[in-house]
Amino acid sequence: MSTSTWRDLGTPKRKSEVFVDLIVDGVEVSVPEGTSVMRAASEAGLSIPKLCATESLEAFGSCRLCLVEIEGRRGYPASCTTLVEAGMVVRTQTSKLAKLRREVMELYISDHPLDCLTCSANGNCELQDMAGAVGLREVRYGFEGKNHLDAPKDESNPYFTFDASKCIVCSRCVRACEETQGTFALTIDSRGFVSSVSAGQKESFLESECVSCGACVAACPTATLMEKSVVEQGQPDRSVITTCAYCGVGCSFKAEVKGNDVVRMVPDFDGKANRGHSCVKGRFAFGYATHKDRITKPMIRENISDPWREVSWDEAISHAASEFKRIQEKYGKGSVGGITSSRCTNEETYLVQKLIRAAFGNNNVDTCARVCHSPTGYGLKTTLGESAGTQDFDSVMDMDVAIVIGANPTDGHPVFASRLKKRLRQGAKLVVVDPRKIDLVDGPHVKASHHLKLRPGTNVAIVNSIAHVIYTEGLHDKQFIQERCEKADFDKWVGFISQEKNSPESLEEVTGVPAAEVRAAARLYAGCRNGAIYYGLGVTEHSQGSTMVMGIANLAMLTGNIGRPGVGVNPLRGQNNVQGACDMGSFPHELPGYRHLSDSVTRELFESEWNVSINPEPGFRIPNMLDAAHSNEFMGIYVQGEDIAQSDPNTQHVTSALEAMECVVVQDIFLNETAKFAHVFLPGASFLEKDGTFTNAERRISRVRKVMDPLSGKADWEVTVMLSNALGYPMNYTHPSQVMDEIARLTPTFTGVSYKKLDEGSIQWPCNEVSPDGTPVMHTVDFTRGLGKFMVTEYVPTNERSSRKFPLILTTGRILSQYNVGAQTRRTENVVWFDEDRLEIHPSDAEMRGISTDDWVGIRSRAGETVLRARVTERVQPGVVYTTFHFPESGANVITTDNSDWATNCPEYKVTAVEVEPVTQPAEWQKKFREFSEEQLNHLAKAAEAERV
Ligand code: SF4
Ligand code: SF4
Ligand code: SF4
Ligand code: FES
Repeated sequence: MSTSTWRDLGTPKRKSEVFVDLIVDGVEVSVPEGTSVMRAASEAGLSIPKLCATESLEAFGSCRLCLVEIEGRRGYPASCTTLVEAGMVVRTQTSKLAKLRREVMELYISDHPLDCLTCSANGNCELQDMAGAVGLREVRYGFEGKNHLDAPKDESNPYFTFDASKCIVCSRCVRACEETQGTFALTIDSRGFVSSVSAGQKESFLESECVSCGACVAACPTATLMEKSVVEQGQPDRSVITTCAYCGVGCSFKAEVKGNDVVRMVPDFDGKANRGHSCVKGRFAFGYATHKDRITKPMIRENISDPWREVSWDEAISHAASEFKRIQEKYGKGSVGGITSSRCTNEETYLVQKLIRAAFGNNNVDTCARVCHSPTGYGLKTTLGESAGTQDFDSVMDMDVAIVIGANPTDGHPVFASRLKKRLRQGAKLVVVDPRKIDLVDGPHVKASHHLKLRPGTNVAIVNSIAHVIYTEGLHDKQFIQERCEKADFDKWVGFISQEKNSPESLEEVTGVPAAEVRAAARLYAGCRNGAIYYGLGVTEHSQGSTMVMGIANLAMLTGNIGRPGVGVNPLRGQNNVQGACDMGSFPHELPGYRHLSDSVTRELFESEWNVSINPEPGFRIPNMLDAAHSNEFMGIYVQGEDIAQSDPNTQHVTSALEAMECVVVQDIFLNETAKFAHVFLPGASFLEKDGTFTNAERRISRVRKVMDPLSGKADWEVTVMLSNALGYPMNYTHPSQVMDEIARLTPTFTGVSYKKLDEGSIQWPCNEVSPDGTPVMHTVDFTRGLGKFMVTEYVPTNERSSRKFPLILTTGRILSQYNVGAQTRRTENVVWFDEDRLEIHPSDAEMRGISTDDWVGIRSRAGETVLRARVTERVQPGVVYTTFHFPESGANVITTDNSDWATNCPEYKVTAVEVEPVTQPAEWQKKFREFSEEQLNHLAKAAEAERV
């Protein structure tokens, strides 16, 4: 079990080639220039008392507890704000310093409730520790004078409390909110004795700009800002380092546990993806893991109109296996398949695709990346040679210009967004390409230099016009292109891109973005030292998603922005393990490590390890599975941790396909929308209940460690093993580490990966003989494919266009507090911030239709109709409406169409032509949905009832 080795050294680490030698308490120390005396002492193993300083924040120098003596200097300087100088001789422990520190502490304690024994921070309080460290034995000042002991508590945040009576006004919280999170929600109000911490304009935390990231809580040295879970459950007694199971940032956390209960999740300072920060989801929204809706017993039923029946694991597994066998006998070998989960571990995903290829004997395996980042895999593999982002997150701190395209990091990838904002506050520049005014466009102390507010569906036109400017104005990196890229492809591309039809002026009409703005953005990116592109689903979920990814790779190669820190092509991948699910061979045409099935050498490698023959023909993608179900060719499916009935486009097509199947096996922690169409339900385990690994958007493989026993008695990988054995294909793993060893044996980019290695810290693949410690930055000398390949990216408008009947374009996105289909976050206090999907509409479009905020509006597309409440806002441009998709009843995917990316079938979620009008009742689909859901919940309740009887 790995535990964090982090020790607070007081002030941040400095990077410098120049080292400074000094003597602290007789010990010779050598530290980088710019280091504080406090940190130098800490690095020498000495500790100076401190309260307002902490390693994650710049020194502030307010508490005066860290005073030291420096030879040749008058007075007693604060060691946290004093920088080292060559030859300095520092004393940290003298009788004079001890007296001064005791006096400082005495003042603090004289205005502090002396309730240590009943305080929630007892045993884990820096104020308490410092009182001990300075040897405070008596407090000469009584509580009779003015004090803050009756200061009110703010309990408005659902996850933490603010008890002002315990505040020592050290300002760590204020600085954490500014420096670490970048929200600037807190201030120190007034001065002197009456100064106090204030959220917003003297608002409660909940009413303020606070996004509940918890950085202030982590920074607070007292019990003033404290997790409510700690107040209620007490201090934890053990901790386990694990990885967040929400988004693709992959934050590392210390799960702090008391008995078998997680008391709190504390971001790990040693975590290389998050560097000690987190967002509201990973930090606080873990209550779903023990929510009463968890299903912990296997269940089966004949028909979806029947009540569920709780059964033993053996019965459920043998029933599922015999059904799959029966279907294969009746309809053929290719009539069954499965979907792997981007929420589950690498090992679990690997086992599901292995089961399908080895036990089902076909390649009918796909994953939810089909509906999100499959174009990233295709586009980057084609141009650069590897289906993954090129950088680590640390790289953003070396970036000078960032282009953020079709991504909303402050909501979707919040911890990365905080680091991006930090770099922008240091002076880096930002270009946002998005139809909507995302927070980064104009946030606290961050403002985009250019917001290219394009029309949805015109990404490729924009990327082409940027490339056109760079090439025709001679701003490209000729040496890089000559040395690193295929000449013939580049020449062909030049012939295409330099055509006038690709100029910003020619495309202005199409994109809606003024040509001068495009030219200025292109010059900014091409003219900087390090330019980085970050993108999200606003790039991939289009009919030209793969084209756009290749256009982005073209831009990076054109400007030589690839192969070193601060640059690159960075897909912000959505789910915790979507990168891993792709790496593990979840696609119907690829074995693990993105090797095509038609490659006989790779196939033979797997065949000999697995002792089966592998079909060289690719299997069905998800949309093919659904189509084949409608024609009785695909009749059984094993879905692990994925909710296609909510997350895939054209909901009615998906649900009717599920209804047509004879055996739907769903493995999940809740009865999700897909499970309502299932015949076998296998209870899943949350990330807290199992061992394994996740791979984040930086290709970083991080350990997931078991914190509590699985509520159902089995981790997901164990269930897949049982099912495979029941199907007649033996799997004998007793621990996920054995699965990782097999992956490493069979996958060149994972050769050096093992649990032993991962216990030393997370690793970015490729990790092999060439890069034994992993690869933070890819394509440094050569591209994975050798030379980079420029691809012609002709702009082809989507078929989905606005018309008189459907004059608006609907686009979709996420919100910070909810996560994807919302199955987890809807079951937490996060609903306080967001409890329903809304339709954002521009005031001019709203006025034309007589719509006000909070009105119910019907949204009709060529595919279907749903009803949501409206929010009138200038965040969206005229002609564009926007919604999130976190609540099943919203039916966002009832209206999205069947259009998809030409190369990968990734659905075109981001462009749907719609009309919007005021309505007074739910859509027909919603009425049916409610009825069906109620019926299914009754079937579930009957299972539990029968069990009780
Ligand atoms: S709330 Fe905590 S961190 Fe903030 S000023 Fe008070 S004691 Fe310091
Ligand atoms: S929780 Fe985060 S956003 Fe809210 S006040 Fe604290 S640091 Fe700022
Ligand atoms: S940023 Fe993503 S990985 Fe990090 S805590 Fe938030 S949801 Fe989890
Ligand atoms: S720790 Fe240095 S002044 Fe507070």
